[in-house]
Amino acid sequence: MDPGSPRSPDRVRIYEVGPRDGLQNEAAPIPTAAKLRYVELLVAAGLREIEATSFVSPRAIPQLADADELVPRLPAAEGVRYPVLVPNERGMARAEAAGARALAVFTAATDAFTEHNVGMTVAASLDAAAPVLRRASDLGWWRRGYVSTAFGCPYTGAVEPARAVEVGLRLLDLGVDEVCFGDTIGVAVPGQVAALTGAAAAGGIPLERIAFHFHDTRGTALANVAAGLDAGVRCFDASAGGTGGCPYAPGAAGNLATEDLVYFLDASGWSHGVDLEAVLAAARFVAMTLARPLLTKVGQAGGWDPASGRPTGRPTTEPAAGPATGPLGRA
Ligand code: COA
Ligand code: ZN
Repeated sequence: MDPGSPRSPDRVRIYEVGPRDGLQNEAAPIPTAAKLRYVELLVAAGLREIEATSFVSPRAIPQLADADELVPRLPAAEGVRYPVLVPNERGMARAEAAGARALAVFTAATDAFTEHNVGMTVAASLDAAAPVLRRASDLGWWRRGYVSTAFGCPYTGAVEPARAVEVGLRLLDLGVDEVCFGDTIGVAVPGQVAALTGAAAAGGIPLERIAFHFHDTRGTALANVAAGLDAGVRCFDASAGGTGGCPYAPGAAGNLATEDLVYFLDASGWSHGVDLEAVLAAARFVAMTLARPLLTKVGQAGGWDPASGRPTGRPTTEPAAGPATGPLGRA
């Protein structure tokens, strides 16, 4: 499947952000080989859009400083897209040299967050994104634009939908294929998701070009996905193992876990092409790599077989192999 092709209305795209958003805030060094193994497991699970890394300043995000070595080694898999985060022309040159073919530029709804994150106002970050998007368009790359803090900012509080839409429209003008609204600190509730989707569609962002990026900081991420689906959005970000968060967003917890999203979509009858047990295997691998338990809901409970009433899949809290004391025992 070409991830960019039109889809049936009951098909949902799961956009995996584990290798990028999931790992960017982790302090312990993770070897490039382990990141590649994680990506392999995600591909094996059926994920077709995997945000692989960032070509940002290694001083800002040391964990992703190996982007130049990682991207050329990403598994070549039919129909899989590996967007990379690019903040400026310097990042674009690196991404090109490494062989990337899809990217995401990023800004936010509030100047205060953008200044903490990239040292610029929103307007300046859009100016920095413009030549990057022009170049990517010339090269035929797929292009996403993030509007972070679309519902709330850790520095200035609540955000009006009209403001998030205004920034989304600027990104659309600059040539992104998709606008992704991020609930960076996990404060949104379903009514706000419906309101933002309605405002975005009314403002001129087509539903099929809207994606949502929810953090599960306050346990509202899946409810927000349900609201997004009801409103007609068909692309949602998630991270296998539920890791994630931006170092410049105090209070941000993990992304919506891919395993929680897959369970929810399966049980609700949406098709998406991702296998739950294989996602759990990827999540177990991340937990092992980070040497700590990842306490996502479905990671702990497993899936569920309605025929037998029993859980399915090996929970991520099980030890990878060997001794009976799993990560939970050590926690
Ligand atoms: N890749 C590698 N290095 C870069 C770079 C890039 N894309 N862009 C800038 N740099 C380097 C410069 O060469 C310079 O290095 P030096 O100090 O060794 O000379 C340094 O970074 C500062 O460059 P400057 O242009 O002044 O940028 P800045 O310090 O204002 O930082 C960003 C701007 C955007 C590069 C930086 O804030 C950043 O990378 N932020 C990323 C934040 C992020 O990823 N957040 C999580 C995702 S939401
Ligand atoms: Zn995020």
